[in-house]
Amino acid sequence: MAILKIARMGHPVLRVKARDVEDPSSPRALQLVEDLVETMIDADGTGLAAPQVHVPLRVVIFQVTAGRDEDEEVEVPLTVLVNPVIEELETDKTYDWEACLSVPGLTGLVPRSSKIRYRGVTPDGTKIERTAEGFHARVVQHECDHLDGVLFPQRMDDLSLLMFREELRNGIPDAARRLMECSDAE
Ligand code: NI
Repeated sequence: MAILKIARMGHPVLRVKARDVEDPSSPRALQLVEDLVETMIDADGTGLAAPQVHVPLRVVIFQVTAGRDEDEEVEVPLTVLVNPVIEELETDKTYDWEACLSVPGLTGLVPRSSKIRYRGVTPDGTKIERTAEGFHARVVQHECDHLDGVLFPQRMDDLSLLMFREELRNGIPDAARRLMECSDAE
């Protein structure tokens, strides 16, 4: 196991479309997953995609801990998805803050589909198929975007809401509050 170096915004590996893993149960794939888990835990992240550790393969990991915010009780155990596929079940978007280990220090208000279905396999051959809403759906969309060379700022429609996270302590900008309230009302 190893803690891997995380690529930052601007590195070419974060811009390319990652390749499918041909054999998800191979020792190399298993090693990659173990290293991703160790790296994510070390960096205190919610999710991590293989391109973020300079490996352009379609592998993501994530977990959602309960009590992240008052509205959501959803807890998602550590999940590995090899060759994931996402299907949007709702075309309407909700707005919330995102951050990324490849975009350190920044946060931005990002529109995402509010409900998705996703599929993938794990290195032990388990097939995963789940529907997800809210923050769970957001995390999966964010991580899978990494596999197509997309970082969260590229999904934003108002770049004035791309900020240093520390600045949120001075209060949420009115423009962000309006977008988040629209999301909640749906
Ligand atoms: Ni990210």
